[in-house]
Amino acid sequence: MTKFSPLIVGVCGSAREGSFNHVVLNHALAHAESLGARVTKIEMKGDTFPNFCEDLEDRDGRPTALNDIRRLCVEADGYIMASPEYNGGPTGILKNFIDWVSRSSNEVPGTPFRHKPVGLLSASTGRLGGIKGLQCLRMVLGHLGMHISGKEFAFAGARENTADGKVTNEFMASEVEAVAERLVELSQ
Ligand SMILES: Cc1cc2nc3c(=O)[nH]c(=O)nc-3n(C[C@H](O)[C@H](O)[C@H](O)COP(=O)(O)O)c2cc1C
Repeated sequence: MTKFSPLIVGVCGSAREGSFNHVVLNHALAHAESLGARVTKIEMKGDTFPNFCEDLEDRDGRPTALNDIRRLCVEADGYIMASPEYNGGPTGILKNFIDWVSRSSNEVPGTPFRHKPVGLLSASTGRLGGIKGLQCLRMVLGHLGMHISGKEFAFAGARENTADGKVTNEFMASEVEAVAERLVELSQ
Protein backbone atom coordinates (compact mmCIF):
# COMPACT_ATOMS: atom_id res chain seq x y z
CA MET A 1 0.00 0.00 0.00
CA THR A 2 2.95 2.38 0.44
CA LYS A 3 4.18 4.73 -2.31
CA PHE A 4 7.59 4.85 -0.69
CA SER A 5 8.84 3.27 2.48
CA PRO A 6 8.45 5.89 5.24
CA LEU A 7 10.74 5.77 8.24
CA ILE A 8 8.62 5.34 11.37
CA VAL A 9 10.32 5.87 14.72
CA GLY A 10 8.84 4.15 17.77
CA VAL A 11 9.21 5.90 21.12
CA CYS A 12 8.18 4.31 24.39
CA GLY A 13 7.59 6.22 27.62
CA SER A 14 8.58 3.25 29.77
CA ALA A 15 12.05 1.82 30.36
CA ARG A 16 10.62 -0.98 32.49
CA GLU A 17 11.68 -4.56 31.83
CA GLY A 18 8.50 -6.29 30.64
CA SER A 19 6.76 -2.97 29.91
CA PHE A 20 3.22 -3.34 28.53
CA ASN A 21 3.73 -0.19 26.47
CA HIS A 22 6.68 -1.87 24.76
CA VAL A 23 4.47 -4.86 23.94
CA VAL A 24 1.81 -2.63 22.39
CA LEU A 25 4.36 -0.43 20.59
CA ASN A 26 6.13 -3.52 19.19
CA HIS A 27 2.81 -4.77 17.85
CA ALA A 28 2.16 -1.43 16.13
CA LEU A 29 5.68 -1.24 14.65
CA ALA A 30 5.49 -4.81 13.34
CA HIS A 31 2.21 -3.95 11.63
CA ALA A 32 3.68 -0.76 10.13
CA GLU A 33 6.57 -2.84 8.80
CA SER A 34 4.17 -5.35 7.28
CA LEU A 35 2.62 -2.41 5.39
CA GLY A 36 5.97 -1.49 3.87
CA ALA A 37 7.33 1.07 6.34
CA ARG A 38 10.87 1.04 7.71
CA VAL A 39 10.68 0.98 11.49
CA THR A 40 13.08 1.54 14.35
CA LYS A 41 12.67 2.04 18.08
CA ILE A 42 14.49 4.40 20.42
CA GLU A 43 15.43 2.84 23.75
CA MET A 44 15.17 5.19 26.73
CA LYS A 45 18.39 4.30 28.52
CA GLY A 46 19.13 6.49 31.54
CA ASP A 47 22.79 7.04 30.56
CA THR A 48 21.73 8.22 27.08
CA PHE A 49 19.02 10.44 28.50
CA PRO A 50 20.14 12.12 31.73
CA ASN A 51 17.55 14.45 33.25
CA PHE A 52 17.55 17.48 31.01
CA CYS A 53 19.11 20.57 32.58
CA GLU A 54 20.38 23.65 30.76
CA ASP A 55 23.45 23.79 33.03
CA LEU A 56 24.39 20.29 31.89
CA GLU A 57 23.85 21.28 28.27
CA ASP A 58 25.99 24.45 28.68
CA ARG A 59 28.76 22.61 30.48
CA ASP A 60 29.02 19.30 28.58
CA GLY A 61 26.93 19.83 25.46
CA ARG A 62 24.62 17.15 24.22
CA PRO A 63 25.57 13.55 25.16
CA THR A 64 27.17 12.01 22.02
CA ALA A 65 24.61 9.22 21.74
CA LEU A 66 21.91 11.85 21.57
CA ASN A 67 23.34 13.24 18.33
CA ASP A 68 22.57 9.91 16.65
CA ILE A 69 19.10 9.94 18.14
CA ARG A 70 18.45 13.50 16.97
CA ARG A 71 19.69 12.53 13.47
CA LEU A 72 17.24 9.63 13.43
CA CYS A 73 14.43 11.95 14.51
CA VAL A 74 15.32 14.50 11.82
CA GLU A 75 15.18 11.69 9.23
CA ALA A 76 11.91 10.26 10.58
CA ASP A 77 8.81 10.55 8.40
CA GLY A 78 6.55 9.81 11.35
CA TYR A 79 6.37 8.54 14.90
CA ILE A 80 4.42 6.07 16.96
CA MET A 81 4.62 6.95 20.65
CA ALA A 82 3.37 4.71 23.45
CA SER A 83 3.41 5.88 27.04
CA PRO A 84 2.16 4.75 30.41
CA GLU A 85 -0.02 7.22 32.26
CA TYR A 86 1.67 8.31 35.48
CA ASN A 87 -0.63 10.36 37.70
CA GLY A 88 -2.76 11.52 34.81
CA GLY A 89 0.07 12.51 32.44
CA PRO A 90 2.69 10.91 30.19
CA THR A 91 5.87 9.78 31.92
CA GLY A 92 8.85 11.98 32.71
CA ILE A 93 10.96 9.65 30.56
CA LEU A 94 8.99 10.56 27.46
CA LYS A 95 8.94 14.28 28.24
CA ASN A 96 12.70 14.17 28.92
CA PHE A 97 13.25 12.56 25.50
CA ILE A 98 11.16 15.28 23.84
CA ASP A 99 13.01 18.05 25.70
CA TRP A 100 16.47 16.75 24.74
CA VAL A 101 15.64 16.12 21.08
CA SER A 102 13.83 19.45 20.70
CA ARG A 103 17.03 21.40 21.46
CA SER A 104 18.54 22.85 18.27
CA SER A 105 21.95 21.58 17.30
CA ASN A 106 24.71 22.83 14.99
CA GLU A 107 26.04 19.29 14.66
CA VAL A 108 22.67 17.83 13.71
CA PRO A 109 20.57 20.55 12.10
CA GLY A 110 17.03 19.92 10.91
CA THR A 111 13.56 19.46 12.26
CA PRO A 112 12.86 16.47 14.49
CA PHE A 113 9.18 17.05 15.26
CA ARG A 114 7.49 19.98 13.45
CA HIS A 115 4.99 18.98 10.72
CA LYS A 116 5.58 15.28 11.33
CA PRO A 117 2.71 12.88 11.97
CA VAL A 118 2.48 10.96 15.22
CA GLY A 119 0.23 8.08 16.22
CA LEU A 120 -0.46 7.74 19.94
CA LEU A 121 -0.85 4.67 22.13
CA SER A 122 -0.98 4.12 25.84
CA ALA A 123 -1.16 0.91 27.82
CA SER A 124 -2.22 0.64 31.40
CA THR A 125 -3.06 -2.04 33.89
CA GLY A 126 -6.07 0.12 34.74
CA ARG A 127 -9.49 0.25 33.12
CA LEU A 128 -9.09 3.49 31.17
CA GLY A 129 -5.88 2.47 29.40
CA GLY A 130 -4.06 5.70 30.24
CA ILE A 131 -6.30 7.95 28.16
CA LYS A 132 -5.68 11.01 30.36
CA GLY A 133 -1.96 10.69 29.69
CA LEU A 134 -2.73 10.81 25.96
CA GLN A 135 -4.73 14.02 26.36
CA CYS A 136 -1.80 15.63 28.10
CA LEU A 137 0.69 14.32 25.52
CA ARG A 138 -1.40 15.75 22.67
CA MET A 139 -0.99 19.24 24.16
CA VAL A 140 2.81 18.93 24.22
CA LEU A 141 3.07 17.45 20.71
CA GLY A 142 0.63 20.03 19.33
CA HIS A 143 2.84 22.75 20.82
CA LEU A 144 5.74 21.27 18.84
CA GLY A 145 3.71 21.54 15.63
CA MET A 146 3.29 17.81 15.14
CA HIS A 147 0.35 16.41 13.17
CA ILE A 148 -1.45 14.20 15.63
CA SER A 149 -3.21 11.28 14.01
CA GLY A 150 -6.94 11.11 14.64
CA LYS A 151 -6.56 7.39 15.28
CA GLU A 152 -5.18 6.57 18.71
CA PHE A 153 -5.81 3.82 21.23
CA ALA A 154 -5.69 3.48 25.02
CA PHE A 155 -4.99 -0.18 25.79
CA ALA A 156 -6.75 -1.02 29.08
CA GLY A 157 -6.29 -4.09 31.28
CA ALA A 158 -2.81 -4.67 29.90
CA ARG A 159 -2.10 -7.54 32.28
CA GLU A 160 -5.12 -9.54 31.09
CA ASN A 161 -4.80 -8.66 27.39
CA THR A 162 -1.16 -9.57 26.81
CA ALA A 163 0.93 -12.67 27.46
CA ASP A 164 4.59 -13.51 26.87
CA GLY A 165 5.27 -10.13 25.30
CA LYS A 166 2.37 -10.34 22.82
CA VAL A 167 -1.07 -8.77 22.53
CA THR A 168 -3.62 -11.57 23.03
CA ASN A 169 -6.94 -9.73 22.69
CA GLU A 170 -7.92 -9.79 19.02
CA PHE A 171 -10.07 -6.66 19.07
CA MET A 172 -7.38 -4.68 20.87
CA ALA A 173 -4.73 -5.97 18.47
CA SER A 174 -6.80 -4.69 15.55
CA GLU A 175 -7.15 -1.26 17.21
CA VAL A 176 -3.38 -1.02 17.66
CA GLU A 177 -2.90 -2.05 14.02
CA ALA A 178 -5.35 0.66 12.95
CA VAL A 179 -3.17 3.28 14.69
CA ALA A 180 -0.14 1.98 12.78
CA GLU A 181 -2.00 1.84 9.46
CA ARG A 182 -3.24 5.44 9.72
CA LEU A 183 0.22 6.61 10.69
CA VAL A 184 1.81 4.90 7.69
CA GLU A 185 -0.75 6.65 5.45
CA LEU A 186 0.00 10.02 7.05
CA SER A 187 3.74 9.49 6.68
CA GLN A 188 3.62 9.11 2.88
C1 LIG B 1 4.10 6.48 39.51
C2 LIG B 1 2.97 5.73 38.83
C3 LIG B 1 1.80 6.38 38.55
C4 LIG B 1 0.76 5.71 37.88
N1 LIG B 1 -0.36 6.41 37.54
C5 LIG B 1 -1.29 5.82 36.76
C6 LIG B 1 -2.40 6.58 36.27
O1 LIG B 1 -2.54 7.76 36.53
N2 LIG B 1 -3.30 5.94 35.48
C7 LIG B 1 -3.17 4.61 35.14
O2 LIG B 1 -3.99 4.08 34.39
N3 LIG B 1 -2.12 3.86 35.60
C8 LIG B 1 -1.19 4.44 36.40
N4 LIG B 1 -0.11 3.71 36.83
C9 LIG B 1 -0.04 2.27 36.51
C10 LIG B 1 0.63 2.04 35.14
O3 LIG B 1 -0.37 2.13 34.17
C11 LIG B 1 1.24 0.65 35.10
O4 LIG B 1 2.30 0.59 36.03
C12 LIG B 1 1.76 0.30 33.71
O5 LIG B 1 2.06 -1.07 33.66
C13 LIG B 1 3.01 1.08 33.34
O6 LIG B 1 3.35 0.86 32.00
P1 LIG B 1 4.56 -0.13 31.53
O7 LIG B 1 4.09 -1.51 31.82
O8 LIG B 1 4.68 0.14 30.07
O9 LIG B 1 5.79 0.24 32.30
C14 LIG B 1 0.91 4.35 37.53
C15 LIG B 1 2.11 3.68 37.84
C16 LIG B 1 3.12 4.36 38.47
C17 LIG B 1 4.44 3.64 38.74
